[in-house]
Amino acid sequence: MRIVVLTGAGLSAESGLATFRDSDGLWERHRVEDVATPEAFRRNPALVMRFYDARRLGAASARPNPAHQALARLSRQPGVTLITQNVDALLDRAGAQDVIHMHGRLDSALCAACGHRWPAPDTMPVGMPCPRCGKPEARPDIVWFGEMPYHMDRIEAALDRADLFAAIGTSGNVYPAAGFVDVAAMNGAETVELNLAATAPGRFDRVIEGPASRTVPEWVASLIG
Ligand code: APR
Repeated sequence: MRIVVLTGAGLSAESGLATFRDSDGLWERHRVEDVATPEAFRRNPALVMRFYDARRLGAASARPNPAHQALARLSRQPGVTLITQNVDALLDRAGAQDVIHMHGRLDSALCAACGHRWPAPDTMPVGMPCPRCGKPEARPDIVWFGEMPYHMDRIEAALDRADLFAAIGTSGNVYPAAGFVDVAAMNGAETVELNLAATAPGRFDRVIEGPASRTVPEWVASLIG
């Protein structure tokens, strides 16, 4: 059976990482347009770098929870594609294989001039030189609003062939990720949502309500024992 899993901030909530749109979420404390757009980076690179430094520090000190560990087990099964919108590395640190980070990742730096990627330092100064081309064009390796998510070709191929699609801990607010359930359903996949509560009643064939650290291990066990 080919399974595609899409995860969002709710997967890491019980690891202590703030989600975006829950009451105390990240976007409550910062306006998206001030910290998560290319214009924001051009306008105030120091503010943007500080925002991601703080999130990088938080993510590095967080620990994978049972939901990450269960998905790591599932990812080792043949035919499973694990996609995350999260920029923390908790799935990777839980041992998940070949995680598709469609919105980038905090522990990676990107050169805006030559496209080189390298492990991000704990804090990224403005104007940090690229180790390959030397230009002072280093930026967080994060997909900002208005930019194209990564690995969309791989994602679309997986959605075309999926027998089962699961959306875990995501509010379904941001496209293209929010539309993956529709693509999978159109291609005949069964769809399931694992969330504290249904985000769009009727959109998924099945909804499993509850905290991810309980529902995800149970769901994975129901698939692979
Ligand atoms: N268990 C399961 N689900 C949870 C839990 C939990 N413990 N805690 C919160 N959730 C759910 C919420 O109900 C909500 O549906 O996680 C979801 C979090 O939604 P958002 O904060 O919108 O996060 P996400 O869907 O990942 O955002 C998508 O938006 O801002 C951009 O790039 C950013 O990747 C992010 C994208």
